[in-house]
Amino acid sequence: MEQGFAPADTVEAGRPYMVAGIARTAPVAMLDGWKDATTPRVPAEPTLRGELAARWARIAAFEHASVASFARFTLDLLAVGAPAELVVAAQKAGGDEVRHARLCFGLASAFEGRPVGPGALRVPDEPGRKTDLASLTAATVREGCVAETLAALEIAAAAEAARDPVVRDVLQRIAADEATHSELAWRFVRWALGAGGPEVRAAAAGAFGDAERAWSMGVASDDEAALEPWGILGSAARRRVQAQGLADVVLPAARLLLGEVEKAAPEPNARA
Ligand SMILES: [Fe+2]
Ligand SMILES: [Fe+2]
Repeated sequence: MEQGFAPADTVEAGRPYMVAGIARTAPVAMLDGWKDATTPRVPAEPTLRGELAARWARIAAFEHASVASFARFTLDLLAVGAPAELVVAAQKAGGDEVRHARLCFGLASAFEGRPVGPGALRVPDEPGRKTDLASLTAATVREGCVAETLAALEIAAAAEAARDPVVRDVLQRIAADEATHSELAWRFVRWALGAGGPEVRAAAAGAFGDAERAWSMGVASDDEAALEPWGILGSAARRRVQAQGLADVVLPAARLLLGEVEKAAPEPNARA
């Protein structure tokens, strides 16, 4: 599998913070300072309650890591001379991720019965990470155009499946933001394709191709559907949404985007 590509079932929410090909998150502990007061219906059964606390804490840790991902993306945008409107959108997205993390740690804390929050996230990350336009475009395709677009669809599906009104409300708010974040990734790639040369186009096309191959290898199973009333999709539902999102949204949009660049490119020897 291509380095830097996050398999669907290892990334829980939104834009991953990839370090040397692995999605990094902070450790979760009984810590205060990151939870919003959310009051879902807490089941009486201790095993179910414990499972919900653990699953929501994991999702919250990924939301928290997305803050770092957008902070790094902001620096990357500056490093490649991207326009101000993209930098502003990246900074706003980082703020949205703080809100998502607090909402999700709020749910984890409610199910846990005491405050749950993130410990120290190990940053800065990898020395020598490539920030040239082609590398950044490939990373944005993987982490934004693919992972975030599919995450936005998954979260919307989880909101629909949720029976608890508090959980549903949290998921609906996050899904709306995640859709905006995925649009930012697509806007960046469109800009990069216009600003860069053929190597940028090749990097984008390669990363979309990797996504298509990686997701088509997924195997569905039917476990975990029991948590869907509390907003945690089972893996069968996740795979279904991802496969459909890839086929109906990501790949058609990628073809359109890459086709636009081909049309815009001058014919070889056209002026000869
Ligand atoms: Fe996001
Ligand atoms: Fe998020």
